[in-house]
Amino acid sequence: MIVLGIETSCDETAAAVVEDGRTLHTNVVASSMDLHAVYGGVVPEIAARSHIEAIMPVVEKAVPNWSEIDAIAVTYGPGLGGSLLVGALTARTLAILHNKPLYAVNHVTAHCYANFLTETSLPGYALPSRQPDFPVLALIVSGGHSQLGLFRDHFGYTILGQTNDDGIGEAFDKVAKILGLPYPGGPSIGEQALEGNPLAYQFPKARMEHKYDFSFSGLKTAVLRLAQAEIGESYSFPSFEIAGRLSDAQKADIAASFQRVAIETVVDKTMLAYEEFRPRSVIIAGGVAASPELRRQLAERLPIEIAYTDPKLCTDNGAMVATYGCFMASLGQSSADPYSLEIMPNLSM
Ligand code: KG4
Ligand code: ZN
Repeated sequence: MIVLGIETSCDETAAAVVEDGRTLHTNVVASSMDLHAVYGGVVPEIAARSHIEAIMPVVEKAVPNWSEIDAIAVTYGPGLGGSLLVGALTARTLAILHNKPLYAVNHVTAHCYANFLTETSLPGYALPSRQPDFPVLALIVSGGHSQLGLFRDHFGYTILGQTNDDGIGEAFDKVAKILGLPYPGGPSIGEQALEGNPLAYQFPKARMEHKYDFSFSGLKTAVLRLAQAEIGESYSFPSFEIAGRLSDAQKADIAASFQRVAIETVVDKTMLAYEEFRPRSVIIAGGVAASPELRRQLAERLPIEIAYTDPKLCTDNGAMVATYGCFMASLGQSSADPYSLEIMPNLSM
């Protein structure tokens, strides 16, 4: 089963070809991130326009030979409406043109499936040596989504908890903006944190009504208030003027202290769920899964080893969509009608 996966839910235009849900043949990602960086976040109209320009060159590069492709999988939600439309319409058209079955894939679920890739002849990928074993506890930490899920098998899962407000990646992006660090905030805070003391400041962890839920908006506000206090200003001081008044040492200490608590928040919940459900595997998925601090904290606290995937497969890509598409196709999940598949920007897992 060889599947082409197409992903355009945010600012990455991506396509990849995966065989049998484990072998990565091609993986092409064009990002409009640089265009958004000047605004400190993704501008939906710019993302959609960039997808239109990039989608066909990206697909053509990912698919050297159409006769080898058995099916097409595409992200149909959740994500930005204009961005999702470009991928979905492209996939629908290609499915009709090449007479291939079409599978509609949930972006958040797909993130988890990057962890099922174990083989590739592509250079520069460090993949785990084996696939996760069910039951799988999945910590999904991306820009827009943060949740803990328990997969009993490929299509049976329970959401144990989720964020009640911002995604953890969104919190990294917003704190980076306060500190004047470039977008995306995850990697830039991670780098700045290397220079700082993670115990310099004590930020609060939110207490939640449901034990597996998270919250990040309070943490982000705590960072803002602390930064204002550090430069001797009041609550009304504009956040975009703070960075210019902080020293490099202050920025590094705030970045390190914020990162420690944000990551601890999700690792605490992962540990609780691990104790309660004793899964055979734990996986981490989504852009923030690329964080070395997350990997360090988990390795320190979990009694079992996690087989981490390559950081390139943590952020948005077509390979995760193709991988899940392989399982959908080979395990008899129903395909979508290429004449009528609709996007679902607010789809949940
Ligand atoms: O999964 P993703 O590419 O897009 C969504 O589905 O949201 O995640 C993007 C998020 C951004 O918030 C970015 O700051 C974060 O992932 N991110 C990281 C790293 N690389 C990307 N966070 C921490 N460490 C990283 N190395
Ligand atoms: Zn994503």
